[in-house]
This record gives sequence, C-alpha cells and structure tokens, in this order.
Amino acid sequence: MPEKEIAISIQNLTKILGGRKVLDNVSFDIYRGEIFVIMGGSGHGKSTLLRNMTGALIPDSGKILFNGQDLLKLSVAERERVQRRFGMSFQSSALLDFLNVEENVSLPLVEHTKLSPKVIDIISKMKLSLVGLQGFEKYYPSELSGGMRKRAGLARAIAMDPEVVFYDEPTAGLDPVVCAVVDQLILDLTRKLKLTSIVVTHNMESVFRIADRIAMVFKGKVEQIGTREEIRNSKNPIVQQFIKGELEGPIQIT
Ligand SMILES: Nc1ncnc2c1ncn2[C@@H]1O[C@H](COP(=O)(O)OP(=O)(O)O)[C@@H](O)[C@H]1O
Ligand SMILES: [Mg+2]
Repeated sequence: MPEKEIAISIQNLTKILGGRKVLDNVSFDIYRGEIFVIMGGSGHGKSTLLRNMTGALIPDSGKILFNGQDLLKLSVAERERVQRRFGMSFQSSALLDFLNVEENVSLPLVEHTKLSPKVIDIISKMKLSLVGLQGFEKYYPSELSGGMRKRAGLARAIAMDPEVVFYDEPTAGLDPVVCAVVDQLILDLTRKLKLTSIVVTHNMESVFRIADRIAMVFKGKVEQIGTREEIRNSKNPIVQQFIKGELEGPIQIT
C-alpha cells in the first residue's frame, strides 16, 4: 500500500483563551483525501482547533504544516494565499440574506479571482448542481429549507476548488433525514473532488457515517485518534462514554 500523504500536520498546538489552555499540546496528522472527524463535547475546544487550522486564530505555541509548509512562518499575504485553498462551511458563515443563492456562491470568485462574470456564472451553476441545487439559483436564502441552505453553503465552500474543506457542525439543527443527506453530500464531494475534509461534530450518527478517522477531543487534548472500528472498540472510558452517551463515566457534566 502506498504511503499516506500528509495534508495537514498539527504539532504541539497550544491555545490560551481567557487565561485557560483551551488547546493543550495537540498533535495529529490529517491525510490527503480523508474525512477526518473531530468529535467531543461542547466547550472542549473543537471549534478553537478548527479555527487555528484555518488561520482564524493564531496559536500560542506549536506548528501547523500544510503540505509541509509552516503556516505560522508565512507572511500575512502568503498565508492568505494558502488560505484560498481552504473552503469553509461554518455555522456562523451563513449565507448573505440579501444575495440569491447563485450570488452567494459567486462571491468568493468575484472577490478573489479575475474571472469574467460569464465564467463565474458557469462555475457557480456547476457548484450548485454538485450539491443538488440546480434550478434554485435565483432563490434567496430565506426561501430555502435548512438543509438546502446548508447545501448552498457547501457550494460556496467549494466555489474556489479548495484542497481542504473545514466544516464546523455541518448538521447542527437538521432533522435526521436531512442530516443524512448532508452527510452523504460531504462523502460525495470529498471523494468526487478529491478533497480533504475536516469535520467537527458531536452527532454520533454522522461520525460513524462519514469518518475515515476520528479524533476525540476532551478538555483541550486529543484523547484518541483512530478509524471508526478503533474508536468503536476503544478501551478508553472517556471515548466509550461519549460515543454511547452514557451518564456514568469519567466525563463530568457540570
Ligand atoms: N474568545 C474566547 N475567549 C475566552 N474563552 C473562549 C473564547 N473562545 C472560546 N473560549 C472557551 O474555550 C473553550 C472551547 O471552546 P470551543 O472551541 O468553542 O469549544 P467547542 O467547539 O468544542 O464547543 C470553551 O470553554 C469556551 O468558553
Ligand atoms: Mg464549537
């Protein structure tokens, strides 16, 4: 079997927020082409970890290598150039209400490329059809269901043909069927477009549906990293309590 290529390497990452170590010496590698899921309870540092990877936050110590390049050693302009190869599908980066779906997807292309309006139009239509929204180009976000808005957000995340896509709780607030649709879309897009996908979620069904590998984050540290099978069969009581949603165990609810 060929050696796995590392897309992103996180090394000894520590982030202090509000005087607390929200990330405590976190290290792991993400392989090219995989769906890497970061799971863990609320407030344990998942979003902070993602935001350090995307460059939205700068860690207090540690390294983030993207294709072997140390992101923190780059100039701001260089880092921004690298970040254009990242797509983001965050809860907070919702669609702009005053733009229709097609205009929302076009936005990164208008802002960051010199492509002609005609080409941008073709690309955004293509991205919308990839997420199953052909025919809805002229709809405004308020006219779409929650699941369709998520899909439109995904179309926007892949507008610039990213290498890596980050998702923060992509299925939050969706009913189980729509949740399955979004999960399937993440799987399809990752495989078809040969993306590397990094997904933060605490939805256990999603975790075991989409993950190639899973990292369990607990109190700012990585408890365990493994495949679905390895995590299912984990002997770590924190991991077991979390995936089974048990009341009794080392995870204290405060
Ligand atoms: N800007 C901030 N200032 C102070 N504390 C923060 C800030 N952002 C996040 N935190 C704290 O860091 C911890 C981890 O937050 P977060 O990464 O959002 O967790 P998760 O995404 O796993 O729910 C939480 O306790 C949160 O309150
Ligand atoms: Mg979060």
